Amino acid sequence: MGAAMSRTPPKRFHVKSFGCQMNVYDGARMSELLEADGMSATDNPDEADLIVLNTCHIREKAAEKVYSDIGRIVKRAGADEQPREKPMIAVAGCVAQAEGGEIPRRAPAVDIVVGPQAYHNLPQLVADAAAGRRAIDTDMPANSKFDALPRRRRQGPTAFLTVQEGCDKFCTYCVVPYTRGAEISRPWSAILDEAKALVDAGAREITLLGQNVNAWAGEDEAGRSRGLDGLIEALDAMPGLARIRYTTSHPNDMSDGLIAAHRDVPKLMPFLHLPVQAGSDRILRAMNRSHDARSYLALIEKVRAARPDIAISGDFIVGFPGETEQDFEATLEIVRAVGHAQAFSFKYSPRAGTPAATMADQIPAEVMDERLQRLQTLLNEQQHQFNLASIGKRCDVLLERDGKKPGQRIGKSPWLQSVIVEADAAIGEMVTVDIVSAGPNSLMGELVGRERAAA
Ligand code: 5AD
Ligand code: SF4
Repeated sequence: MGAAMSRTPPKRFHVKSFGCQMNVYDGARMSELLEADGMSATDNPDEADLIVLNTCHIREKAAEKVYSDIGRIVKRAGADEQPREKPMIAVAGCVAQAEGGEIPRRAPAVDIVVGPQAYHNLPQLVADAAAGRRAIDTDMPANSKFDALPRRRRQGPTAFLTVQEGCDKFCTYCVVPYTRGAEISRPWSAILDEAKALVDAGAREITLLGQNVNAWAGEDEAGRSRGLDGLIEALDAMPGLARIRYTTSHPNDMSDGLIAAHRDVPKLMPFLHLPVQAGSDRILRAMNRSHDARSYLALIEKVRAARPDIAISGDFIVGFPGETEQDFEATLEIVRAVGHAQAFSFKYSPRAGTPAATMADQIPAEVMDERLQRLQTLLNEQQHQFNLASIGKRCDVLLERDGKKPGQRIGKSPWLQSVIVEADAAIGEMVTVDIVSAGPNSLMGELVGRERAAA
């Protein structure tokens, strides 16, 4: 199984990332690593002789995508007028970690399997596969992959930066503690160095990433113990950086210092992604969430006291085993009590090896469908309301890309809303706009000011 014969080493690679923002970050790091190894990136998978599928295992549908993608790649290579060698296929990310050697058994076209803590070994794995050796690496070494990665170089105006990885919370539905490993915090200086490199390369906004980003802990250069708020303060002092965000946070790690940072740190954006998952205390207990509906609401109140305009976002699961209609209504109730600027909601998906997968009283698909629809109707309404409430506000927008129509740019408001602006301004410029209209998914802003720096 795997690669049996030696083959030409690949020259052009294509990385396709699925799932969360950390995978986007990992995908960018893998690209930089392969480039440093002498390969060149291509956006067109048909041109690539190495395809890296950077996969997600969080829900069934996400995990299955990888196999249909592999099938498509093989078919495409065979369908060419001049049949060519099938590109080398590497499966990376959380499916690689969870399924390991099972992947080439099920899909023999796969040459490399590499987990999220091992991708610094990718150049060696590519060389092994080219030499006809099976290349599987799902180790979770104690030393960090980050030390072996090249310095950041290319960057648009917004960048992700992983500061914390893994999870010790063991929510009963979730594979993350198994695929990403135990909670670890990257060291203070490594993070600040990377942030500096990102800013030097053009980043104006940095989003600090971690599965439990607010559990970040470390020591600053003076040897003092610091939390995520300390890191945010240090970034606030970094010239050239205009905005700081972080995601995803766990309610139990929402320290008073971090809450205060939302009041005190100018560059920290008024946005908080703080998943509650469900509103019924019985279900929250079965999920092993270690907070209840009341403590979550109290926390939101504290955050809003520190930063009244903060935008709240969350994740929700419907149809967790044993969820009754009454439990589900408690979810709707907590959603109403919080008021969201945006949110993600999912049907419960049993994941092999997690405690919830074998719990009694799994919920039928039709019931989940119906509940998800009701929840999403409510969440969409809240998002639209939040957007409508922005009309008349004046705010900064960091321009990220061109809009659909000529002369339009699209950027983000401080509250992470997409804002369309008619402006002859550069991508990466911060402009000031008046919000003049709002739809469910975006706002229209009228240009009222441009940065002096850009003139
Ligand atoms: N089924 C459905 N949703 C899940 N999530 C995590 N595991 C599952 C699962 N087994 C959701 C949670 C989490 C988000 C990233 O994905 O809401 O916060
Ligand atoms: Fe999964 Fe819970 Fe950890 Fe989030 S906190 S990654 S949902 S186990």
